[in-house]
Amino acid sequence: IDLDFDLIIDNLPLLLKGAAVTLEITALSVGIGLLIGMVVGIARLSNFKAIRWLAGIYVDFIRGTPLLVQIFLVYFALPKILGMRIDPFFAAVAACSINSGAYVAEIFRSGIQSIDKGQFEASRALGLNWFQSMKFVIMPQAFKRIIPPLGNEFIAMLKDSSLVSVIGFEELTRTGQMIISRTYAVFEVWMVVAILYLIMTLCISRLVAVLEKRFNTSKR
Ligand code: ARG
Repeated sequence: IDLDFDLIIDNLPLLLKGAAVTLEITALSVGIGLLIGMVVGIARLSNFKAIRWLAGIYVDFIRGTPLLVQIFLVYFALPKILGMRIDPFFAAVAACSINSGAYVAEIFRSGIQSIDKGQFEASRALGLNWFQSMKFVIMPQAFKRIIPPLGNEFIAMLKDSSLVSVIGFEELTRTGQMIISRTYAVFEVWMVVAILYLIMTLCISRLVAVLEKRFNTSKR
């Protein structure tokens, strides 16, 4: 096949902008997902049955339904109830954040549970309250262990964010579709889109490896 390099060069700025938008919604979603996930992950370990149950339902619902359907729910179904239109950017970030939160919650829960119970008991015995024990004893240890799975979540979300193209939100995949509808250059465009995703995921995994090293300096 002969590739139309001029076409690639001409459309590269648009695709790069799409890639930047993809990175932006991913970072926002995983960031908000991190906050949701920390709260829900701890809630899953609560002594109160109702809280455990609510957190469990959230995680089950999100992980048990496709992200694509969740995006449709937020963008098409929610406005029906609210009686107002939702901006595609807001819908994209909301759906991805709520989705990521459930996955991050499980990462936090397993990370916390991986820390020996004696650590918590000892810190309580030393007079730290529940919050202090979590903040100064459990979380610092758990955090080291959850860096790799959090990195995986970031990469997974970056790729899955391509699903928000279905609501017309112009991230990388949608940008590619629009260029193709104008130029019919399927091969060139999808190849460049794939390469841009690959570059981003490789950068993230490198970054996670560095973080992992940095946080493990105390270990020998
Ligand atoms: N592929 C799965 C789905 O469609 C997961 C999507 C979300 N991925 C994530 N890492 N939060 O439901």
